[in-house]
Amino acid sequence: MALAVLAGCATVSVVAAALAVALPEDGGPESGTPVLAAVHGVDLGVAVAVEPLRGDDEYRDVVTGNYTSVTAENTMKWEYVQPERGRFDWSGPDTVMDFAERGGLDVRGHTLLWHNQLPAWLEQGSFGPQELRQVMREHVGELVGRYEGRVTAWDVINEPFTDEGAELRENLWYGVLGEDYIAEALWVAHEADPEARLYINEFGIEGGGAKADALYALAEDLVDRGVPLHGIGFQSHFVHGQVPEDLASTMRRFTDLGLEVAVTELDVRVPEPVTDAELQAQAGEYRHVVESCLDVPGCVGVTVWGVGDGHSWIPEWFPGYTAATPFDEEYRPKPALEGIVEALSRRPTPPSSG
Ligand code: XIL
Repeated sequence: MALAVLAGCATVSVVAAALAVALPEDGGPESGTPVLAAVHGVDLGVAVAVEPLRGDDEYRDVVTGNYTSVTAENTMKWEYVQPERGRFDWSGPDTVMDFAERGGLDVRGHTLLWHNQLPAWLEQGSFGPQELRQVMREHVGELVGRYEGRVTAWDVINEPFTDEGAELRENLWYGVLGEDYIAEALWVAHEADPEARLYINEFGIEGGGAKADALYALAEDLVDRGVPLHGIGFQSHFVHGQVPEDLASTMRRFTDLGLEVAVTELDVRVPEPVTDAELQAQAGEYRHVVESCLDVPGCVGVTVWGVGDGHSWIPEWFPGYTAATPFDEEYRPKPALEGIVEALSRRPTPPSSG
């Protein structure tokens, strides 16, 4: 976005210093998050859905008023982009791109190779290595190529490890192409858009542990081999009360490899019934996540998974949990948004020491 471009100039450090002093007193919870994020040179993003982008003014206003980038929550996934073999549907992705570009927002692309939300023809088809490689090249080439130069970063590989464990997941790609499907997809995406930052996106790694170690070993190997991997996405679907303290140190392990990192799908789900005290405590958790990103020079931003509690995947996927995003079902800002504002209101680190 335009403001992010400004973040490196000298004038902005002056503005930044002024904002860091002035905003905590002056700013209401809805004021200034895009400016504050830009001052720190990070994106504050949100996952968006196509229908409300087309038909809900309030939804659009929350996005443009509070965020600097968007991720398509579903519409760039394989089942929507290529529902039948060789038939690509660009209507949803185009809606997201057009909305973002009109509003001056960055776009994060999500996602290319994943085990979920695949069309039936792919999931149930039987493909040999040569054909599957061709299918992969075609899909990644078409999708990444269509938006070449317009997508900041792509989640090329999503959730490559098993849910709990440290083993590579036996997904369609792994089963037919072996472990090298990862390097291969990264190369194909890189050819289609040499400027885009290419990510592996994963969950359950945020607090370290065996899965984070396994991802680290994979990332190190890819970097050593010169494969175009640029970033690690920390999904960060957290449960209230269990947000890892050591998020920044886990991130630093990866930035020490020369990679960037991003919080890509942040939400903090609260068990029902939700109390005011829990929402206040949740604000501290949102604040901690944003502060952790600001503490790590290679962390490029934080994306929240859902524009409001009425558009969050949580109640459907985790029954008994709710209230996971910074806006309520009527798009009213919650304490969590103040937590984000507080984190972003601190004095930015001067670029030279970053
Ligand atoms: C979720 C969406 O939010 C839901 O609407 C959809 O039904 C399922 O997928 N990890 C990811 C995201 O990488 O794509 C998932 O999004 C949430 C978990």
